[in-house]
Amino acid sequence: MSTIHERLSPVVRNLPPSGIRRFFDLANQMEDVISLGVGEPDFVTPWRVREACYYSLEQGYTSYTSNHGLPELREAIAAYLENFHLQYDPMKELVITIGGSEAIDIALRTLICPGDEVLIPEPAYVSYRPCAILAGAVPVGVETRADDDFRLTAELLRERITPRSKVLILCFPNNPTGAIMSEDDLRSIAQVVIEHDLFVISDEIYAELTYEGKHVSIASLPGMKERTILVSGMSKAFAMTGWRIGYAAAPEEILSEMVKIHQYTILCAPIMGQKAALEALKHGQVEKKHMVERYNQRRRLIVKGLREIGLACHEPKGAFYAFPDIRSTGLTSEQFAEGLLRYGKVAVVPGNVFGECGEGFVRCSYATSVDQIQRALERIDRFVQSLK
Ligand SMILES: Cc1ncc(COP(=O)(O)O)c(C=O)c1O
Repeated sequence: MSTIHERLSPVVRNLPPSGIRRFFDLANQMEDVISLGVGEPDFVTPWRVREACYYSLEQGYTSYTSNHGLPELREAIAAYLENFHLQYDPMKELVITIGGSEAIDIALRTLICPGDEVLIPEPAYVSYRPCAILAGAVPVGVETRADDDFRLTAELLRERITPRSKVLILCFPNNPTGAIMSEDDLRSIAQVVIEHDLFVISDEIYAELTYEGKHVSIASLPGMKERTILVSGMSKAFAMTGWRIGYAAAPEEILSEMVKIHQYTILCAPIMGQKAALEALKHGQVEKKHMVERYNQRRRLIVKGLREIGLACHEPKGAFYAFPDIRSTGLTSEQFAEGLLRYGKVAVVPGNVFGECGEGFVRCSYATSVDQIQRALERIDRFVQSLK
């Protein structure tokens, strides 16, 4: 007789557990560890946002909302997206989801037919591959390189396109590399996308955390809105990870199909989170700007510090991650991260968990205080010197 485990879905059984978790579990068992591991803001959600949520509860807002989400929140999101030269009809082309995470899942499940290939520029956010596999797709990594500042180039993309290619997932500013794409970069990618009739899932959750130039959305380029699902949310820019509010924007033809999955599995995002998100979008700009300035200050500090230690580090121009090259130490990413944790008591994430081409790098999140970053840099320095 087969065991319970053998009777479970092979698709799920064959998924590896998140490589980031293993390090967190190890770090949690130790004392006095400085974490540069987590990908979430160290700020508490701005007070005015928390207060708006309290107030909405006092007024009795505790029910379901429409499947698409509160109309006033969708209107606020549509108005906000105009800052990026994007026009979406709030009633037909937007859905409020449980974080950007749900938006990625329903986008993939809507676009994929079994066996379609999903192109994933790597190093990449850890959820894309598993979510693509769960949707029935075959993930195909597209290597990006430190020499190109981890930008996706049309040449690298072309090399991995096959007749089965269906979807390209873009994530700029990028987790884990901090790379951004200029409008010209995106134009050359859009040309390849149109030529090969691909769809794009554009994860722009770090759009606000762009420190040089202004964020450009690929959906704003000619011929791209009709084939793009834009994914974003409140987690990163507004320090609202726990509220679980994200959204997807897409042409009605695509969005109406995505909403079917959302309505049968989720029904709607929680009203408390939606009320809070509305306040953040309408009145949270000053707090957001302040947080972005602080990240930028920390970014300069960590990159300078890592370079002084002797670790090559490309300039991350967005998100809140530095991605130093640790190959000069002679260690693999895993060995470096594990050694640094055990002997240096600093948690970073080995680059190979973000795809094979992340080998030789580690991800250091600077969404933590200046003081912690300074102490972490001293410890990394000591660890690197001890290897010589
Ligand atoms: C690139 C990227 N996309 C999406 C998410 C998920 O965000 P959310 O909290 O909105 O689900 C994350 C979280 O780390 C992320 O880094």
